[in-house]
Amino acid sequence: MPIDRLPEYASIKACVFDAYGTLFDVHSAVRNGGQALGDKADAVSDLWRQKQLEYTWLRSLMGVHADFWQVTSDGLDFALSSHGVTDSNLHERLMNLYLQLDAYEEVKSTLQTLKANGLQTAILSNGSPRMLEAAVESAGLDRLLDASLSVEEVGIYKPDPRVYQLTLDRLGVKKQEVCFLSSNGWDAKGAAHFGFRVAWINRFNREVERLPGDLATVIHRLDDLPPLLGIA
Ligand code: 2OP
Repeated sequence: MPIDRLPEYASIKACVFDAYGTLFDVHSAVRNGGQALGDKADAVSDLWRQKQLEYTWLRSLMGVHADFWQVTSDGLDFALSSHGVTDSNLHERLMNLYLQLDAYEEVKSTLQTLKANGLQTAILSNGSPRMLEAAVESAGLDRLLDASLSVEEVGIYKPDPRVYQLTLDRLGVKKQEVCFLSSNGWDAKGAAHFGFRVAWINRFNREVERLPGDLATVIHRLDDLPPLLGIA
């Protein structure tokens, strides 16, 4: 078992990961299948992600839930149309690529290290069960994760506290036993405010979100985590 943990991680039994942007590179869909977009590719990919997230928050406020596949499709539709692109084949191709996003390079080895040291591992994501299952299988992570938890079980999106509560109900752990990892600053804050120990994976050198919740630490890659837990 781990030795020499940082005090804020002394009680951790489960490492719970956000999926999109944290384990999976959301921009890999456009990178791998958006050649037709030419020099608009980065702008379309950024706007797609921005609208996808905005629609999760807005639908939650409106009380009109639709699953992440629908919201992702609507966000892509908005992004393509905003850039004057009306190619339905491209829309379908990019959506299908969302089922097989690239995992970041350090994901597999980090999960292997955590599992080898007796920690539970899980995903907690906005993704629908079908989307998560496809992405996990495509990246070869299925045997390294004990659970993939989807907001579909509660019918509302992050950062609603009911989503974070799902982790406790399904994994049988207490708040202080969960280390939550997300590259999305607002998700990291939501989870910290709920009471998890949160490592914000600041992959993109962003500013800390001015929202409630105390982050336990800020790191830049997932493989910065095991040393904090006292494991190599
Ligand atoms: C996720 O829940 C927020 O996209 C992020 O996977």
